[in-house]
Amino acid sequence: MKILFYDATSYDMESFDEKKPDYEGIEITYQEIDISLKTVALARGYDAICAFVNSDLSAPVLEALSELGISLLLLRCAGFNNVDLEKAEQLGMTILRVPGYSPEAVAEHAMTLALSVNRHLHKSYIKVRENNFSLVGLTGINFYGKTAGIIGTGKIGAAMCRICRGFGMKVIAYDQYVNKDLDFVEYKSLDEVLSQSDLISLHCPLTEDTRHLINRDTIARMKKDVVLVNTSRGALVKTDDLIQGIREKRFFGVGLDVYEEEGNNVFENREEEVLESSVTARLLSFPNVIVTSHQGFLTREALSAIAETTLQNAKDYEGKHINQANLVKAGA
Ligand code: NAI
Repeated sequence: MKILFYDATSYDMESFDEKKPDYEGIEITYQEIDISLKTVALARGYDAICAFVNSDLSAPVLEALSELGISLLLLRCAGFNNVDLEKAEQLGMTILRVPGYSPEAVAEHAMTLALSVNRHLHKSYIKVRENNFSLVGLTGINFYGKTAGIIGTGKIGAAMCRICRGFGMKVIAYDQYVNKDLDFVEYKSLDEVLSQSDLISLHCPLTEDTRHLINRDTIARMKKDVVLVNTSRGALVKTDDLIQGIREKRFFGVGLDVYEEEGNNVFENREEEVLESSVTARLLSFPNVIVTSHQGFLTREALSAIAETTLQNAKDYEGKHINQANLVKAGA
């Protein structure tokens, strides 16, 4: 099987090259550029493409892939909100993903953001480098004894619940389904979680129901001085309302690994550019906001697990033994 790997970085190549010898018959060509209508033609002659979380897998791109005879999309990520699933189904495409490579990697990054913004690490790091040893402006809040509100208690949310418990926090959660492994977590309504939590961390997927879950109304229901963390998907939070809430001093801190309009920034070095979208600049203008660039998944363990499952998905497809848990279907 010949796979064209879009949007390849050095860390992708390292992890896939390490696993490739175990998967005889699979050939990978790495392409730095991401897939789009302009670059889809590069896939001519391949059997499958491998794409990532912000790759453009909209209807026109899928149609172009289908015309090239490609019917297997290997997503080297968990999320699939970037894929037009109805179109993929119409075209008879198979989409395989990596549902759970290392939930702890993302949950640990969520807690890293929460701690960093709470203890102003982004400021103290710079201050000490400039020989400014003053502590003024660096006061934080103990998480010990406080309440963590976890929205979405699947694999990553559950890992975050365990981390918060380890910090001595009371853990409450909102999800349509109770995760029975989390006997120390109290499930509550969304309103209760919003109004009772000192730390709110988002771990639900982006769906029609969850788009802009955090908006002017829900922000108004949060405790003043809450710490909000989003490592899930940018559009869970309505950015303009978040910015308004930050201006109104509703938040002690905000940590974002994902944000709306991140698409053009994620994984790109844009040091020399003037950014056309103001969202990133506006968020970065606040002293109590930390933004990272969708790096929650980025640990050695996670990369290794992603490479292994993606290659196994390719092998399973060839052998017609698809792992149903990795299959992405419309309406799922
Ligand atoms: P999962 O499928 O194991 O868990 C999602 C949970 O959200 C489920 O328990 C589900 O019932 C719940 N949920 C669905 N709709 C909800 C709603 N309206 N309100 C509350 N809960 C709801 O998914 P997993 O693996 O825990 O991943 C969660 C999200 O994390 C992914 O959808 C993805 O967007 C994001 N992610 C971010 C990464 C990063 O690098 N920052 C890496 C991997 C995933």
